[in-house]
Amino acid sequence: MDKFVITGGKKLSGTIEISGAKNASLALMPASILAHGKAKLFNTPELNDVFTMLKLMKHLGVEGSFSNHVMELDTSRINNLIAPYEHVKKMRASVYVLGPLLTKFGEAKVSLPGGCAWGPRPINLHLEGLKKMGAEIDLEEGYIIAKAKRLHGAKINFDVSSVGATGNLLMAAVLAKGTTVINNAAIEPEITNLVDYLIKMGAKIYGANTTCLTIEGVDELQPCSIETIPDRIEAGTMLIAAAITGGSITINNISSMLLEAVLSKLEDSGCTISSSSNRIELKAPDSSIKPKDVSTAAFPGFPTDMQAQWTAYMTLANGASTVTDTIYLDRFKHVPELQRLGADISVNENSAVIRGVKKLVGAKVMSTDLRASASLVLAGLAAKGKTEVLRVYHLDRGYQRIEEKLKALGADISRVEGTEY
Ligand code: EPU
Repeated sequence: MDKFVITGGKKLSGTIEISGAKNASLALMPASILAHGKAKLFNTPELNDVFTMLKLMKHLGVEGSFSNHVMELDTSRINNLIAPYEHVKKMRASVYVLGPLLTKFGEAKVSLPGGCAWGPRPINLHLEGLKKMGAEIDLEEGYIIAKAKRLHGAKINFDVSSVGATGNLLMAAVLAKGTTVINNAAIEPEITNLVDYLIKMGAKIYGANTTCLTIEGVDELQPCSIETIPDRIEAGTMLIAAAITGGSITINNISSMLLEAVLSKLEDSGCTISSSSNRIELKAPDSSIKPKDVSTAAFPGFPTDMQAQWTAYMTLANGASTVTDTIYLDRFKHVPELQRLGADISVNENSAVIRGVKKLVGAKVMSTDLRASASLVLAGLAAKGKTEVLRVYHLDRGYQRIEEKLKALGADISRVEGTEY
């Protein structure tokens, strides 16, 4: 397993471009199943989660190639409607194949995803929605077995806003008979990217970018191409890398609209930010980092996927702050590792109180999940001395060669290929 070795204390500065959004690609790829033929997905990031989805789709019979960030998928020879445990256990987003397979082929057998590193992540909303659309669903031997001659339209009201359930049901509804209405739909930009793709394929979807989506099912869709939006979480992580090290950064290819909540908190913490429709510039606080509380929320709120990185940033603030995660109540696996670097944090239920310290000091720390690992890298960049972040395969799931981007900004970070656990 690879690790990162970081010598902290370098001020990061420079200009970078952000890769395509992981969570958009993971929806756009299975959406391609809905049409018969060749799709092209531009700006697809080279990430392990994307490779996992590609493997799963090849297992279903999709022919795929991927180079220079262009993914080509030929869905005309799908001959297997089973998503096996070996694939799904690696990545929960594999469950995204359920809606497309069921609505296109009338059946699907998809492994239940099982546990997650930071607590429960149910898929009841996906299954209840499909049942409302007429699917017969059984759970047998760890698998979801779904059948429906043809799904029909339904009125779906989500109790909580769910990215995955919105995506799955949207993909199911575009080929269902009749009209489906999804209330309290997620409006994360990755869902809007999916809606744009489906509309381009010929789907009839009204209310894009709102919490009420109306979908009139059609009989068939045409394969087409789409540009994947830039990754707002990667961008947010890089902005904090500059902020926590006292540097400055320009990101050249992302709109500030994708991360207003993060930018506003960064400004409150003392950063100077200027942005336009396709560029964000940040300069770290002149003196100390001001402590700022955050509470995560569905888009356009502060993303849960930036919670761990913000926690790392606040460890060096000039005072105490509170970080509350309202989306996932137990997503704090990074805290004991940040404590190994000298952070003063206590967690009570779904809130962490972070009392800023004068300095962090490098140590060996362990990645436990994707965003937790990102927070350890950020802390390591600011810590005195050497930090080793073990098990960076978690990072490779969602950041495209993050060490190269950080190096380009002046970080002293290297990947050591090896077997240390
Ligand atoms: N929820 C339910 N029932 C469901 C589905 C969700 O109760 O059937 C709850 C969840 O427990 C959670 C809330 O709804 O409290 C939101 O979960 P959501 O369904 O939106 O999460 P997801 O679709 O499984 C996606 C991202 C996650 C990101 C969340 C929240 C993908 C592939 N994953 O997950 O990304 O944290 O939305 O924004 O899009 C990451 O990139 O690190 C990551 C974990």
